[in-house]
Amino acid sequence: MRKPLMAGNWKMYKTAPETRAFFQTFALLVTQSGHCEIVICPTFPNLAAAAEATQGTRIEIGAQDMYWAKEGAFTGEVSGPMLLAVGAKWVLVGHSERRQYFGETNQTVLKRTVAALEYGLKPIVCVGEKLEERESGRTEALLAEQFREGIAQLSSEQFAKIVIAYEPVWAIGTGRTATPEIAADAHRFLRSLVASDYGQDAAAAVRILYGGSVKPDNVKILMAQPDIDGVLVGGASLDPAGFACIVNF
Ligand code: 13P
Repeated sequence: MRKPLMAGNWKMYKTAPETRAFFQTFALLVTQSGHCEIVICPTFPNLAAAAEATQGTRIEIGAQDMYWAKEGAFTGEVSGPMLLAVGAKWVLVGHSERRQYFGETNQTVLKRTVAALEYGLKPIVCVGEKLEERESGRTEALLAEQFREGIAQLSSEQFAKIVIAYEPVWAIGTGRTATPEIAADAHRFLRSLVASDYGQDAAAAVRILYGGSVKPDNVKILMAQPDIDGVLVGGASLDPAGFACIVNF
């Protein structure tokens, strides 16, 4: 009942010509991929090129971040209405790189998510523990805190429109994927948090993506876990053939 969502986060990679070239190849490789939703999140300057290149396909475009105000004197920031206007439908919120390098907190994650929903963008809200938190046995406490402060303040109506992404920081860009068991445990735990705050129906409906060194050769076993409803892919989403393999797991 939960349709898989296969998402690519391009981070700070690809120019506009490279973006167009990617979709020329990729779009042809996923014409039969009705089993899932496909989202690609390029950099801000390439959103328009990506939206244009995917017109008439099933591929949807997302941004990697957004500011919560509609407009104003916020140099360097981009608002939800601006993202919608260039054809984005989704937005990543609270990616660990935003938290680590750009001061994102659970509180600002919440503000961005609320704003995204207000403007009609679909937020993919990212959570995940760092290596030291995992090694000191604090994974569940940390996930619970990120959930409580960054997500659980949403109303049930708002919550029904978000996707959660579990991305253990130690598995991002390191080639060190969480084992399917580790990922499955974290996903089960997150779903239990949803159940206690929003009820069983909401827990059964929410999609929880896994991210962290997902590759064509490990996607199948990850997707076989009952609580993993899709993936959020960094490095391996940059190659059209490789990402098509992931989409068509
Ligand atoms: P990698 O797939 O490169 O590990 O990145 C994961 C990620 O951060 C996706 O948002």
